[in-house]
Amino acid sequence: MTDIAQSYCLSFPTNIDHAKKSLVLSNYEERIRIEGIPPSLGVALLKRINDGGTINDAGKGGDDREVADTAAAISAADDSISGLEGAAAERFLRTLVQEKIAARPTRSTCTGHELRVILDDHFAAWNTALFSHSLWTSLAEGSARPAVVDGWLIESYHFIRGANARLSYAASLCPDPRIKAIFAHHYVEEYDHYEFFAQSLRARAIDVDDVDRQGPLAATRAVLNMARKAARTDPIAYAACSGLMESTGSDADRARTFYGKVAEHFDKSGSGFVRPMIAHVNLDEKFEHGSVMADVLDPIPVLTVEHANRVLQTVFQFKETLMMWFSEVQTHYHRNPFKGRALYRHGRGNPPE
Ligand SMILES: [Fe+2]
Repeated sequence: MTDIAQSYCLSFPTNIDHAKKSLVLSNYEERIRIEGIPPSLGVALLKRINDGGTINDAGKGGDDREVADTAAAISAADDSISGLEGAAAERFLRTLVQEKIAARPTRSTCTGHELRVILDDHFAAWNTALFSHSLWTSLAEGSARPAVVDGWLIESYHFIRGANARLSYAASLCPDPRIKAIFAHHYVEEYDHYEFFAQSLRARAIDVDDVDRQGPLAATRAVLNMARKAARTDPIAYAACSGLMESTGSDADRARTFYGKVAEHFDKSGSGFVRPMIAHVNLDEKFEHGSVMADVLDPIPVLTVEHANRVLQTVFQFKETLMMWFSEVQTHYHRNPFKGRALYRHGRGNPPE
């Protein structure tokens, strides 16, 4: 009997925007309203497909006979969608294929290089989304509160210092000696870069001891924990998350331009607080950290598409976590400017021990 989980894959990203009166899906380019099927049953079908998803591009398959066979098999085999008539399922699947939301997988493996090219492609779009966040645009345009500038610096300091919590962890847990050596080398080059941000904090008259005592926002911890979780479960997924982080900083000219704008708007007194961050960009550019993900992935001769798909899903979740981090930094410091002598953060659930 045909099993839909092995028969179709969803294109990436496919989001379910609404599933009440009608089913509305979306991807980067468009929103698609699908009529003629109860939304809950459409969602059940999409979940079945997603459970066995692969990274193959959608729209390459779609053989009519296979669509009909699969639809009949779903109706016969799956209790959760037992109310679905075969014809409706068939039409639904055909629509998904026509709209390039679903396709027949054409292969079961890919190379590390192929996955890396797919990731780089997504990173280009995700970087645009990440740096269109109002935290970054308000810093570049000068509309942020000075307290948000402080908060952005403080949480960046914690985040960069977090290399000691994630990179060393990834290196120590990695079972592959080749990848472990890459992580260890990256760690040796990164472990003390938080000092650049400490210098920036001092230039803005923020006491780093106070920053250390209060600790990072929960959202900053979430970013670090997400990276640590990836390191625990799959070194390739960690390399992909690291690749996204490094890709955000790999366009050194763009970063230097951004810091120039921040200085123009927020350093009227001439403290020079962006200079250490520019020095950091220059150093990372010299280290070529933007190529770490390629160094890890390119030599891998074969990955199952299921594995590659898990990597893609993990790094997508990481990107979403970064977006939430930006929102939290912006909102928190807009409402609660940093106070060095405070014993603990405003709104924090548990005081520090
Ligand atoms: Fe660095």
